[in-house]
Amino acid sequence: MSVWAVLAAAGRGERLGSDRPKAFARLGGRPLLAESLERLDNSGWIDAIVIAAPPDWEEPSILVAEEIAATKVSSAVTGGESRSESVRLALDEVPDEVAVVLVHDAARPLLSEDVIERVLAPLSEGWEGVVPAVPLADTVKRVDGDRVVETLSRDDLVAVQTPQAFLADALRRAVAGDVSAATDCASLVEAQGGRVKVVEGDPRLLKVTDTDDLALVESWLA
Ligand code: C5P
Repeated sequence: MSVWAVLAAAGRGERLGSDRPKAFARLGGRPLLAESLERLDNSGWIDAIVIAAPPDWEEPSILVAEEIAATKVSSAVTGGESRSESVRLALDEVPDEVAVVLVHDAARPLLSEDVIERVLAPLSEGWEGVVPAVPLADTVKRVDGDRVVETLSRDDLVAVQTPQAFLADALRRAVAGDVSAATDCASLVEAQGGRVKVVEGDPRLLKVTDTDDLALVESWLA
């Protein structure tokens, strides 16, 4: 069974306040993109990788792949306006015969082989999608402006990360329609009636959004 990875790296990352896109912010002396790309490239589960790069950063993405001597990068496509559009554009490069697609955020550098294995395994048990999740530490409330409308039961809630694994056909159907409002791929598969399983995530899969996150992830790298 062939497994391709889509690495979503086309975000602007404005909160990092840098002159370059987030995927090219420095982490441990190299671009953030290098960390997750290297880990995907080294994974025994992954056959090939498509990168969704920010406009004009396709070539630099390929250069990053060359610098880390990655051997599985098939192409770097221009990403879209939203994350889901970037995934759709990258998915167009995945051959029809590929059975499984793993979608990962370049903004979550510390991808482990264990979590890749955890999200791939249930796809052979009848699930269309699998997401890693961690429990919520904070109480979550629904608000309307500055007014609390409802306090949600934390027991029923999890925070969902990437990598997310999908049967390729289910993911292709899911991204075919209007994807502008979706913040992850699994929600699109769910909307199509797809069965999505939750497995144990990893606190180290923190998504880098600001410079404090970069510093924290860098400390974990050391
Ligand atoms: O913006 P956010 O941090 O939620 O983005 C999550 C991931 O999706 C990041 O790795 C980012 O590069 C990617 N992304 C993308 N295309 C966009 C927006 C975000 O590939 N248009």
